[in-house]
Amino acid sequence: MTDTLRKVFIKTYGCQMNAYDSARMADTLAGEGFETTENADLADLILLNTCHIREKAADKVYSDIGRLRRLKNERASVGNPLLIGVAGCVAQAEGTEMMRRAPAIDFLVGPQNYHHLPQLLAQAKAGKRPVDVDFAVDDKFSALPSPSPKAIAARGPAAFLTVQEGCDKFCSFCVVPYTRGAEMSRPVSRIIAEAQRLASAGVREITLLGQNVNAYHGAGADGRPASLGRLLFALARQVPQIARLRYTTSHPRDMHDELYEAHRDLPQLMPYLHLPVQSGSDRMLHAMNRGHTRGDYLRLIERMRQVRPDIAFSSDIIVGHPGESEADFDDTLSLVEEVGYAACYSFKYSERPGTPAAAHDDQITEAIKSERLARLQERLDAHASAFTASLVGMILPVLLERQDQRTNRLIGRSPFLIPVNVDAPADLLGHIVAVHIRKAAPYHLSGDVAANATDILSPASHAMAQ
Ligand code: 5AD
Ligand code: SF4
Repeated sequence: MTDTLRKVFIKTYGCQMNAYDSARMADTLAGEGFETTENADLADLILLNTCHIREKAADKVYSDIGRLRRLKNERASVGNPLLIGVAGCVAQAEGTEMMRRAPAIDFLVGPQNYHHLPQLLAQAKAGKRPVDVDFAVDDKFSALPSPSPKAIAARGPAAFLTVQEGCDKFCSFCVVPYTRGAEMSRPVSRIIAEAQRLASAGVREITLLGQNVNAYHGAGADGRPASLGRLLFALARQVPQIARLRYTTSHPRDMHDELYEAHRDLPQLMPYLHLPVQSGSDRMLHAMNRGHTRGDYLRLIERMRQVRPDIAFSSDIIVGHPGESEADFDDTLSLVEEVGYAACYSFKYSERPGTPAAAHDDQITEAIKSERLARLQERLDAHASAFTASLVGMILPVLLERQDQRTNRLIGRSPFLIPVNVDAPADLLGHIVAVHIRKAAPYHLSGDVAANATDILSPASHAMAQ
């Protein structure tokens, strides 16, 4: 292959951190002369940024590679070669085994090694099939180039910013500690600098990302570790153009005092907290190695509601972890009733090779898992409907993020993350406007711009009127 490579198509599977990583890989490849395309048929390089969290996610990658193999063969036959790279957690977990199983792959790169992409690409072009999945000793965040203001603007007014990566919690079911490695935090100064770059390119909302974001402990200005709470205060003070801050995903074991203070004192911090519980049964929480009880969790929710009464909660729940009895599952159902989640992701337990839970001999049958998931989701949908219905009639500040190509309506987000469809002119994109909420669906709202709407420059995270 020659230097005529020009276009890259990146497909992102899985979590928001992968979305952030894909953007950083696009920035790195821009430095190598690549522009991104939304059309795989036009691409010279296809990069799959994969997810290993559940079996289905990993299987999808292999079926996509099967399809790409045919495309690659067609392209080779007309002298227009296509390179295929696999990044992300499947690459990390499977390494050379993946190369053996899928000969169409030209290179593999694990999540800690994205700054090596230019070298890997050069080797792949030379016909080698490099595999770069050792946990890098150099710091990828310092080595990855910053996006141009144009690239930032093209990604819209709400941006992700990774502040922490990896996990030391070793929940029984989870691959993340193996694929993303040990917990690490970026220094406060680097995060502030990245936030300032985002803000000057027009970003209004930043979501701080980390697998265990509230275990954040990056070096502060004084060189001592700063908590996530302190980081949020520093961002609010030093990057005042950012009207909205969010963070995800949190662990119940790392809810510290400064985080409650941030929710109490910072109007920029949106009243929404994703706090996965996984199960409502103490017996299961113990088997999952979660390090907290049901009671601990409910006390955290209560304390957060005291400092921020309008806060909405979301969660992740797994049904059918090995050993889960009907009584354990009932505990999960009753916890859902007690908390009243605004939204919640729920999953059937999926056996992941190499994790402790996969070795248990009391696996739950697929039929029982499906039946429990259906019962759980019925209750979660009911709570989600009740939550959105409670917002009808309110005027909420909505950050308008994009335009629906089909209906021309603008789509934004309420403080509670729930998407809102708004009939408004396209020149309001990127603004936070007051929206009168008229209609609700379980995970969705619609409304119109309130008569007196102006851009709400001072962050307003509370519902403004009822
Ligand atoms: N099976 C099912 N769900 C899982 N998750 C993590 N590992 C598994 C697994 N093996 C879920 C957890 C986690 C979310 C990101 O994915 O609920 O919080
Ligand atoms: Fe996985 Fe548990 Fe770490 Fe979350 S806290 S990433 S579920 S091991």
